[in-house]
Amino acid sequence: MQLTVNSTALKNMQKKVFIKSFGCQMNEYDSAKIADLLAMAHGFITTENPDNADLIVLNTCSIREKASEKVFSDLGRLRSLKKKNPNLILAVGGCVSVQEQTNIFQRAPYVNIVFGPQTLHRLPKMYERACKKEKRIIDTSSPQIEKFDYLPPPSQTGPIAYVSIIEGCNKFCSYCIVPYTRGREVSRKMDDIISEVKNLIAKGAKEINLLGQTVNAYYDSTNNSNLSTLIHEIAKMVDIKRIRFTTSHPAEFTDDLFNVFANEPKLVNHIHLPVQSGSNRILKLMRRGYTSEEYQDIITKLRKIRPNIVVSTDFIVGFPTETDEDFAATMDIVQKINFDASFTFIYSPRPNTPAAKMEDNITLSQKKERLSILQNQLGIQTRQHSKNMIGTIQKILVTDHAKKYPDQFSGRTESNRIVNFIGSENILGKIVGVKITEALTNSLRGELYE
Ligand code: 5AD
Ligand code: SF4
Repeated sequence: MQLTVNSTALKNMQKKVFIKSFGCQMNEYDSAKIADLLAMAHGFITTENPDNADLIVLNTCSIREKASEKVFSDLGRLRSLKKKNPNLILAVGGCVSVQEQTNIFQRAPYVNIVFGPQTLHRLPKMYERACKKEKRIIDTSSPQIEKFDYLPPPSQTGPIAYVSIIEGCNKFCSYCIVPYTRGREVSRKMDDIISEVKNLIAKGAKEINLLGQTVNAYYDSTNNSNLSTLIHEIAKMVDIKRIRFTTSHPAEFTDDLFNVFANEPKLVNHIHLPVQSGSNRILKLMRRGYTSEEYQDIITKLRKIRPNIVVSTDFIVGFPTETDEDFAATMDIVQKINFDASFTFIYSPRPNTPAAKMEDNITLSQKKERLSILQNQLGIQTRQHSKNMIGTIQKILVTDHAKKYPDQFSGRTESNRIVNFIGSENILGKIVGVKITEALTNSLRGELYE
């Protein structure tokens, strides 16, 4: 009892950080690292409630205008918290920081710290300076992958773990802001990645998600290793049962990557491969570096190796000059590939990108109409794929108790679909067979299968 009182008292004394993550998985990963860094440097614990935080971190995303603007509306709301608690420190990180720089202080003068995706390891020091009443602290530079040398071992526990292996992007797709905000492509050393994976195994990891904006461009020149080498190395670790990677680029799909799908059973039966458009004219304007036919060839080849591979993708509609004919080509590739899942976006002009200088000649209502036609067709395909799973036995990595039903468990299929089913405590963290019985919109239901 004494111990409980003391630990509660201790918890109340500990500094609390509220971290809000916007955007991609890479940002989620960075947010987890920010929490680890602050815990190590200043004993911070994370809180879900911004009202009782000593430090609030917004880890922002600028991929589309809406995501960027959301940050400023959030900052507007946080102003009242700052008034209530003048000691509260407010930090803005992520891609919006790099894009907006000191504009953030202009638009929200009560922000204390602005940092970027490549300087997050410097946040603890910046926080100390802010506590000493230094104002408008900013560091959004891109030191070459220095941050990984300063990160503590991961504190994250659980069967599914994420590891960033390559930072930034060199592709410069004409619409995309990422190469400007996250900087140029830099791969981590394979040895560092392997030791991070070992740490994650010690915390219960069974599945490793390798992350990068163009993850299949990974290359470590010190030992001539690429993504395939890395997957084979990780697969040698007996505790790791599943490996996945995201996001890959069609122009970097090398023969040895096909070979890993052929030879490495721990590599999951799922590929997320953004196509963006089915029109060769638009793909060229987007500077994607492949044609619609080349994309289709990759999927055909993958399906030869893994007939049931689950294919998901990203689309952008309403790119400048996209005609009805271009859009028809997009609908054509949708029909030909029969995607399992997809993310669809209306083109959003981003500052200083080449596409932003092109005339955005498609009306918003046209863009919305195309989006809705596309989503409708993709939705039909996704629902059909889900229905086809009914009656099949899926290998499920059991991750949690189901959110809504305490007697149920929740896990992930190889294609990352959520499945809920009744089970017993001893299956947590294990891979079990589950027979799918029902397909819902966002999840599946099933029964444990011996
Ligand atoms: N407008 C709309 N969608 C975009 N994406 C990237 N940049 C833009 C933009 N300017 C989409 C692409 C990418 C996904 C992560 O976000 O589809 O694959
Ligand atoms: Fe952006 Fe293209 Fe790089 Fe993806 S590959 S992050 S869309 S520039």
